[in-house]
Amino acid sequence: MDESLFADLIPELEKSLKPYRGASLTFAKIPERGYARADILREMERLQAIEEARWQDGKVSGAVYHGDRAHIDFVNRVYALHSQSNPLHADIWPSTTKFEAEIVAMTARMLHAPEGACGTVTSGGTESILLAMKTYRDWARATKGITAPEMIAPTTAHAAFDKAAQYFGIQMIRVPVGADFRADVAATRAALTPNTIALIGSAPPFPHGIVDPIAELSELARARGIGFHTDGCLGGFLLPWAEKLGYAVPPFDFRLPGVTSISADTHKYGYAPKGTSVVLYRDAELRHFQYFTATDWPGGLYFSPTIAGSRPGALSAACWAAMVTLGEDGYLSAAKAILETAAKIKQGLRAIPELQLCGDPLFVLAFTSESLDVFQVMEYMTRKHWGLNGLHSPPAVHLCVTLRHTQPGVAEQFLADLREAVAFVKEHPDAPAGVGPIYGMASAVELRGMVSDLLKMYMDLLYRV
Ligand SMILES: Cc1ncc(COP(=O)(O)O)c(C=O)c1O
Repeated sequence: MDESLFADLIPELEKSLKPYRGASLTFAKIPERGYARADILREMERLQAIEEARWQDGKVSGAVYHGDRAHIDFVNRVYALHSQSNPLHADIWPSTTKFEAEIVAMTARMLHAPEGACGTVTSGGTESILLAMKTYRDWARATKGITAPEMIAPTTAHAAFDKAAQYFGIQMIRVPVGADFRADVAATRAALTPNTIALIGSAPPFPHGIVDPIAELSELARARGIGFHTDGCLGGFLLPWAEKLGYAVPPFDFRLPGVTSISADTHKYGYAPKGTSVVLYRDAELRHFQYFTATDWPGGLYFSPTIAGSRPGALSAACWAAMVTLGEDGYLSAAKAILETAAKIKQGLRAIPELQLCGDPLFVLAFTSESLDVFQVMEYMTRKHWGLNGLHSPPAVHLCVTLRHTQPGVAEQFLADLREAVAFVKEHPDAPAGVGPIYGMASAVELRGMVSDLLKMYMDLLYRV
């Protein structure tokens, strides 16, 4: 790796990633004498207050999906009650396993799972996806003798699927999406081989928020007798309520007979604290391929349903409490507020001639620009303290609307700032483009290796004191 290529960039990144250097209690070794709890708490409360201000007022895309003070205080209390619990020890904490079984059952019911469907609680969307793909790999090996497994996903499906391919030795076949940003069914059919173990669709994908044609894709999988995973990490806890509210939601859940697994993140629109998700399977036989058992280890009979061994039972307790305190009425009213706010922003976006909304999304609003550098627009918004997501292929920016954005005035402020950003970039063609040049490099095949190196250096920085 040639670090000199990024010589200017790294110090700048380091400065922005380490704002507390020299301005907070810092330890590169365990302190000789323990600090007073009150002093530690004071310091941590100070940092928390600085960071809460970053997302509390609704200027960040996604990230915090609920965030009302009373809700946070409630789930924190539940977390504190169960902070010692570990579902690995079901004998000591049967309450945690009860919470997890009920989280799975409630999620399965919400997604119209048939009798016999099942699942597990995981640590997040990525783990749910990793586990589903590992499950299909082991299932296909055991039942079909497939030893060189392949999976097919639209280009827009989450990078966690590439991670699964890398971790579990599965060949990933990416299929381009159509002009409407939805998976291309014909291209998917053409990519099938005797080694295909599963197809993937998202409801919706992270980048542009347009639900894939899951009915058609899952039928392809069913006809082939292979798995179909709906990635509902982002939409699994919002689309069911959107449908009940009368929005046009394409079918994506277990009502489609070809859908054999779904991931749905409780820590997004399920409004649980960060650290939980649910992976569901149409039947228990499939779930068995997810499990791990060791019967000859001197440490005793060992088994774990998910990747981790010991797990934070408190997160499952807090997730359960979040789901139960919201109830259907809470989820419905949250969805209504989010979808109405998103509709207002969509309308405002469509009225800015220099920007083009990507497709007709419900709550993840991505826009490109034919006449401007959309990353210059994003950089202007960053300077106005908006935390938006940059996308590429094509270059675009998105806002994932959450309850934070439903606060009075947020949508209006976003649109006013966006109009200002567009006017500024039109007048200043040399305006800074922030991450734009890096995204540009990532779009060029020959420079991708360099960008990957940069990302590794970025991760190294994260662990620098
Ligand atoms: C569609 C989709 N799938 C998977 C994930 C991964 O979820 P996590 O970050 O919880 O691992 C995300 C995250 O935003 C997502 O939007």
